[in-house]
Amino acid sequence: MVDVDSFIDEKVEEISEEVGEKNAVIGLSGGVDSSTAAALAYEAIGDQLTAVYVDTGLMRKGETEQIRETFEYMDSLRIVDAKDRFLDALGGETDPEEKRHIIGEQFIREFEEVAREVDADYLVQGTIYPDRIESEGTIKSHHNVGGLPERIDFDGIVEPMRDLYKDEVREVARELDLESIIAERMPFPGPGLAVRIIGEVTEEKLEVAREANHVVEEELEEYEPWQALAAVIGKATGVKGDNRVHGWVVAVRSVESRDGMTARAQEIDWETLQRMQSRITGAHENVARVVYDVTHKPPATIEYE
Ligand code: XMP
Repeated sequence: MVDVDSFIDEKVEEISEEVGEKNAVIGLSGGVDSSTAAALAYEAIGDQLTAVYVDTGLMRKGETEQIRETFEYMDSLRIVDAKDRFLDALGGETDPEEKRHIIGEQFIREFEEVAREVDADYLVQGTIYPDRIESEGTIKSHHNVGGLPERIDFDGIVEPMRDLYKDEVREVARELDLESIIAERMPFPGPGLAVRIIGEVTEEKLEVAREANHVVEEELEEYEPWQALAAVIGKATGVKGDNRVHGWVVAVRSVESRDGMTARAQEIDWETLQRMQSRITGAHENVARVVYDVTHKPPATIEYE
């Protein structure tokens, strides 16, 4: 890696030179890449940059609050509460690819509205080197608001981290004082909890998924998984108190991986598994059981949809 300090100096200068007196916009996802790109660009052009965070309602627990805290120093931070619009748009859709498509489209629409409103001439993106060489094309596009340049004629797209690897981005993030939790957080898919809910996305399933993912992140921290998650995968019978319930089945998954292309299910000790089970079934009256996924990738994928 190049020296972090000089990398930052160099990029700040490049960005201010390129953008000049004009306006720029960036989508914050809560992930390391976009957060770092936003902080870098803000150093360069200050409030000429509008950082837009779209609260899709599909985010992890506390994510919106964390974004607010981390970036409150930017006067031009925009948090768009689009929870209802995303749920409406998803309607009763059950097809995984259709769900992704709807979320991507809605995201662009929300983002586009702000970009037009602030008269943005430049789009800043947190694209990193592996994104560019990823030939398999995992569907990351909307994360980086791909699709936007076709709808708005920007003067240019600024990608200050296009030559960096993930670990280098983390170094830069640390240097820019981004809260360590952002710098260290596990990867989280653009479509958020929607790919951790099989079938229709409802408020109740979202509540269960959000809390269960929070429990899993906390309980498995010491295992340092590449990614750990919980998914609402269906319904099954259980007994809660004196009643039989037809409640949600939550699957817990924790994997080791280098790049997400292949992954190994982690071996987790029984006590930890039981603690997660107890916290997850206890968190919501309609959770009937918790299962642990022992499948590697392949044949399974990491996410459930
Ligand atoms: P899979 O489930 O394909 O996931 O084994 C591999 C990695 O990609 C992430 N992933 C996504 N990321 N948009 C994203 O930004 C998506 O639609 C998406 N689907 C999967 C997943 O979290 C894992 O890290």
